[in-house]
Amino acid sequence: MRRPLLAANWKMHKTLAEAEALASDLKERLKDVAGRDVVLCVPFLYVEAVAALLLESEIAVGAQNLYWEEKGAFTGEISGPMLKSVGCDYVIVGHSERRQYFRETNQDVNRKAKAALKAGLTPIVCVGETLQQREDDVTESVVTTQIHESLDGLSKGDMLGSVIAYEPVWAIGTGRTATPEQAEEVHSLIRDLVGQTSDSDVAEQVRILYGGSIKPENVYDLMRQPNIDGGLVGGASLDGSSFERIVRFEDRKS
Ligand code: PGA
Repeated sequence: MRRPLLAANWKMHKTLAEAEALASDLKERLKDVAGRDVVLCVPFLYVEAVAALLLESEIAVGAQNLYWEEKGAFTGEISGPMLKSVGCDYVIVGHSERRQYFRETNQDVNRKAKAALKAGLTPIVCVGETLQQREDDVTESVVTTQIHESLDGLSKGDMLGSVIAYEPVWAIGTGRTATPEQAEEVHSLIRDLVGQTSDSDVAEQVRILYGGSIKPENVYDLMRQPNIDGGLVGGASLDGSSFERIVRFEDRKS
């Protein structure tokens, strides 16, 4: 059985005081939650403070990006070992906003995933098609290429230490969630691809998150799908009550 993973992606939101308040609120709200992993992917600046606040909780802290070199003259960049040294355990890699606005390619994503693993961080590697690609009926080939190139050269152990997130770009921040069936179709494709490039054991164990307009109201039906193992939550993770309801997805049966 794959353990559910609910990851918050705060993106570029909140001041330090607001970030600390939300982390403390979630620590309290989620203290009795068991049987799942919860991670808050916060802006770089707040990783250390939020990690310190969450020391005595089961909630982990993640970042939203990293650079693939360990150190050196790369002004403005943050490395895997730096993140690890301030209490970070996860890092989102290849989010569509980074691909779109910062021109990240699958090759960049691949270097970043490897750098994260080398630093002892769990990369959450994001893939997903744009609206145009879905309308052109090329979702399968786009996602296949993203998976092959972004995860190229990862060993079985690396794959087991990684998480994949399927985030259809047209569903991110738009309020337009993929239907559970649409998401399941791509999740199942991704699991098959992992089976082909790694092996069936790894494919069975690797967690594949869905992301794109997850809300307390739709999370249960998504999580019921056999190949959806968790969620990467943007907008709805910025409020304590709403993220708590997402983490407690089974209580949302309706
Ligand atoms: P959203 O963002 O939940 O606001 O759609 C998800 C994401 O970008 O990870």
